[in-house]
Amino acid sequence: MHVAIIMDGNGRWASQRGLPRTAGHREGAKTVDKVVEAAARRGIDTLSLYAFSADNWGRPRGEVAALFALLRRYLLSQTPRCLERAIRINVVGRRDRLAPEVLRTIEHSEGATAHCSGMTLRIAVDYSAQHSMLQSCRRMALESSIERSRFKEHLAEVDHAVTVTPDVDLLIRTGGEKRLSDFLLWECAYAELCFVDAFWPDYDELAFAEALDEFAKRERRFGQIGTPGRVPARVNHG
Ligand code: IPE
Ligand code: IPE
Ligand code: MG
Repeated sequence: MHVAIIMDGNGRWASQRGLPRTAGHREGAKTVDKVVEAAARRGIDTLSLYAFSADNWGRPRGEVAALFALLRRYLLSQTPRCLERAIRINVVGRRDRLAPEVLRTIEHSEGATAHCSGMTLRIAVDYSAQHSMLQSCRRMALESSIERSRFKEHLAEVDHAVTVTPDVDLLIRTGGEKRLSDFLLWECAYAELCFVDAFWPDYDELAFAEALDEFAKRERRFGQIGTPGRVPARVNHG
């Protein structure tokens, strides 16, 4: 089971309280802890969190700096907890535009948890699905045959993913917007979508459990004719 979350609404949460947007990001980091714990407890195999999009570079410098400071703090403080819970950390996205200290912290967290066989926690940083797909296409163009499986391998490599990324089963977006904002466009081909109004700092384990319960009730058909209680395998088109 692969759950992906677009953690949105930190800025509006803060503005509503007359606080700077960065206060919303700080509060949002607390929700990350809660949801990661809950996901691991519920036996989720892969959890992908959208932390910083390639387009988020367009925000004011101070906000960008605060977001990266929070990311570093999160990785430094949570790596020991992830180790305790056998959670493997994997930061996905571009790495060529990250500051050296951010890169060092990422490499440390990934190295320290590389042997963990529980949930994989993928944190998307400087991520753009369109950019990843374009890069993969550029690599494919240098090869003689064009295979779907090869494309997925390239995608994983481009994203610095530790394994070929499984398709997303459930995509949750907080903050009320109903869009994907360039997140996991390939992997979400058949994802069940769950949009919630709560701002990310107000989201919690209970809301996450509700999303999983709702997911369990959905009938996934993958283009075929449904048989209750049976999820059909996807047709293999090569
Ligand atoms: C999500 O919250 C966090 C990031 C995009 C980094 P926002 O900062 O987008 O919050 P809103 O959408 O402006 O409320
Ligand atoms: C998507 O949220 C990116 C993250 C949550 C990291 P944005 O707030 O950046 O996206 P838009 O601008 O609403 O599409
Ligand atoms: Mg937003």
